[in-house]
Amino acid sequence: MEPLESFSKVVKGRRSVRGFLPKAIDDKTLNDIFTLAQHAPSNCNTQPWAVHVASGKTLESLRESLSTAISRGDYDMDFFYSGTYEGIYKTRQVGAAKALFGAMGITREDKQGRDEAFSRNFRFFDAPHVAFLFIPEEFGVREACDIGMYAQTLMLSMKAHGIDSCPQTALGFNARIVKETLNVPQGLKLLFGISFGYEDTQMPANAARVDRVELSECVTFHKE
Ligand SMILES: Cc1cc2nc3c(=O)[nH]c(=O)nc-3n(C[C@H](O)[C@H](O)[C@H](O)COP(=O)(O)O)c2cc1C
Repeated sequence: MEPLESFSKVVKGRRSVRGFLPKAIDDKTLNDIFTLAQHAPSNCNTQPWAVHVASGKTLESLRESLSTAISRGDYDMDFFYSGTYEGIYKTRQVGAAKALFGAMGITREDKQGRDEAFSRNFRFFDAPHVAFLFIPEEFGVREACDIGMYAQTLMLSMKAHGIDSCPQTALGFNARIVKETLNVPQGLKLLFGISFGYEDTQMPANAARVDRVELSECVTFHKE
């Protein structure tokens, strides 16, 4: 396959998967995925991503403690997030929600259904692995961009290895529990997490497809 063709296949093949099989990824593949992702660019090559990957019993413990905490309203975020958008961003947010809830058969009026779908975030959509992405606390927006570039490189690396993923802001909703469970060193702030593993193709949520706006809505070419 030509490089452009295989790159395009990986980029277009990556999408947020919200239902995984209970099948762990072998250690070599895990190591290869994260080794490849190290090639992500960063400001002055500072590579400010500090990544903690949870699997096995540690992950099961987090699944329970995070789910319980969030269901009780125990939030502890390192970065504020309101979840509310305005204007075109609101329109796009609603479009994504419609695609997801539509695939899951959840109507607009079904508050319980929506709440249950939301709570699956904290069970990592049954994934066998989750990566938590931290940034040193002295860093700001510029270095947070490095984490974003790393995250996309990581998810593309996963896809190229046959692994699906879901980036989740929700996984930063109680940073205290994540840090305590994983013994994360002082001085790191949690941005978000990525659940990953083998897609459960039977899961209705995984039938959801979101589109993208026209190129001209986001990109302006200044030619003269
Ligand atoms: C930084 C980031 C945080 C996200 N947080 C969540 C989340 O908490 N829960 C969730 O279900 N999806 C989350 N998503 C997935 C987005 O909804 C998804 O990327 C978007 O709808 C585009 O769909 P696609 O990833 O399938 O292309 C997040 C995506 C990004 C990039």
